[in-house]
Amino acid sequence: MKPQEVDKIWEQLVSKVSAMAERMQDKSPHRADKSGVYDSMPTWWWTSGFWPGMLWILFDMTNEPVFKEKAWKWDAELENWLHEGELGQLHHDVGFQFLPTAVIKYILTGDRDGKRIGLTAANFMAGRYNPVGKFIRAWNDDTWEKDKTTGWAIIDCSLNLSLLFWAANETSDPRFKHIATAHADTVLQHFIRPDGSVNHIVSFDAETGEFIESLGGQGFGPHSSWSRGQAWALYGMANTYRYTGEKRFLDAAKRVAHYFVACLPEDGVPYWDFRTPDLVDEPRDSSAGAIAASGLLEIAQLTDSAESRLYQSAAERILASLTQHCGTWDMPEHEAILLNATGHKPGNANVDVSLIYGDYYYVEAMAKLKGWSHRIF
Ligand code: GLY
Repeated sequence: MKPQEVDKIWEQLVSKVSAMAERMQDKSPHRADKSGVYDSMPTWWWTSGFWPGMLWILFDMTNEPVFKEKAWKWDAELENWLHEGELGQLHHDVGFQFLPTAVIKYILTGDRDGKRIGLTAANFMAGRYNPVGKFIRAWNDDTWEKDKTTGWAIIDCSLNLSLLFWAANETSDPRFKHIATAHADTVLQHFIRPDGSVNHIVSFDAETGEFIESLGGQGFGPHSSWSRGQAWALYGMANTYRYTGEKRFLDAAKRVAHYFVACLPEDGVPYWDFRTPDLVDEPRDSSAGAIAASGLLEIAQLTDSAESRLYQSAAERILASLTQHCGTWDMPEHEAILLNATGHKPGNANVDVSLIYGDYYYVEAMAKLKGWSHRIF
């Protein structure tokens, strides 16, 4: 992308997020349907960090106090669930919730409460580690069928690992890093297939740690390739390399990246799953594209110049496609940035809508193209 194109998109984004900041009030947005109005979820829901995270990135990039003012309260709001929530409300997704709230607040402002809350969330996440199976437990029993999820790990957790790596650096206590690295090795062993496609859910025996089976989860089936799962793996393994320096994680991130890019359709907007019997009329998932683009930019940063160009241009191609095909630029009343995202197709939930994490990772990736140097994931 030429610098002028990046600048133009960024200007559009700043005015879009400014308008969102006016309209969002106290909402904790997750999904906007065709009406263009974002819903509001309880703040224990896994997506509660993404809207504040967008505000913090905008604050960091523009220095406009309004973004900081609107982002400020969210870590304290989320902290309530760490201490007072009923069991079962928070789970491994505390990374998605506390990195773009407490941790970024601490990084940008030095706020001690942000640090304290971030570390409390990291301890909570570390407590979900199963040392026999070497995985972080994903959900709680009320998420799916009762008593089935004790041994479940999911690919999405790859990106939550950044919370543990941050805590390890912040406290100089390598236990957090050991847990994150052990989980990432389980991802290499049981989630990422030789061709670079990934499983969504892997079920282990929680007592013995033995592999039982892989499950389709939010993908089409156990052997399909849920595109957002691909994106979580790509970005998560790139980060794991950044934090550990262990090349096996970079190799895995590249393998997933090559597969992801090869599966993109002509217009560059991923299908919700790359392996369905007939792709043609299947819905797209712009959020998978945005997450993968941000992850590809990490791989570009972690590789030397000849190789780096490959990942940089793949990321830019996806971002240009999302901008052209999915942006709400001509819909000033629409509260979201990207259309054409799919949350959970097999559950018939949130198909072809706007999703706040798609918006977040699109903003994050565009900020990286504009030179944003802080990292939370
Ligand atoms: N982490 C849940 C999802 O990607 O839908």
